[in-house]
Amino acid sequence: MRIGVLGTGIVGTTLASRLVKNGHLVRLGSRTVDNVAAAQWVAGHPDVSGQGTFASVAGWAELVINATGGLVSLEVLAAAGAHGLAGKVLIDVANPLDFSAGFPPTVVAHDGLSLGEQIQLAFPDALVVKSLNTMNADVMVHPRSLSGSHSVFVASDHSEAKQIVSALLQEFGWTPGEIVDAGGISASRGLELYLPLWLSLMGAMGSSHFNVAVVR
Ligand SMILES: NC(=O)c1ccc[n+]([C@@H]2O[C@H](COP(=O)([O-])OP(=O)(O)OC[C@H]3O[C@@H](n4cnc5c(N)ncnc54)[C@H](OP(=O)(O)O)[C@@H]3O)[C@@H](O)[C@H]2O)c1
Repeated sequence: MRIGVLGTGIVGTTLASRLVKNGHLVRLGSRTVDNVAAAQWVAGHPDVSGQGTFASVAGWAELVINATGGLVSLEVLAAAGAHGLAGKVLIDVANPLDFSAGFPPTVVAHDGLSLGEQIQLAFPDALVVKSLNTMNADVMVHPRSLSGSHSVFVASDHSEAKQIVSALLQEFGWTPGEIVDAGGISASRGLELYLPLWLSLMGAMGSSHFNVAVVR
């Protein structure tokens, strides 16, 4: 599949590398066509990867991942363009965290809406799926690096999009039983509000290499 990853940080490059390993064609999107981080990543995967602006990468892709800072994601997706996102699965990995007043951060919501909901509202023709925002980048793509069973959430108003994302997650190593359907895109509220707890746990444990499990 042609997958466009918007974001050149640790999350974007980690997801992009794993997707390439799994046989996908991947391009990294950024504000500038010659972004240095993207160029370094592309140099490591010259035959199957590329880079470009947010708009060119979204337009090229069959599936788009938002791995940009949560406070700029709507701006990034506007730059990508509604046309480039229409009809496509858009995986939103971002967390709208405001660290400007220190720790713990504020989870920013506008009119009580999570970022996932705001993205779906702003781009009604995109099939937005909130997922993978509740763990660190390495755990996202190497779930078997943790002992035992643990959970990854998917939230979306589009059941067919959830199935596509579930298939990608299984390629990363998640088992079907570990992929928890949290409901519609409004479930993004809880998935984003979990972040202050995740950050507290990280501080208490001195490590970001952990996750939680939903058990019955
Ligand atoms: N770190 C983790 O393990 C982790 C885990 C779960 C979720 N997340 C979430 O994943 C997202 C990505 O995190 P990250 O640490 O990899 O990257 P990041 O530093 O939060 O974001 C990097 C991207 O944001 C873009 N960007 C920054 N300022 C911008 C602006 N003013 N306008 C437009 N674009 C701008 C950058 O564009 P350029 O490429 O042009 O510089 C870059 O591509 C975040 O929302 C984060 O909360 C992170």
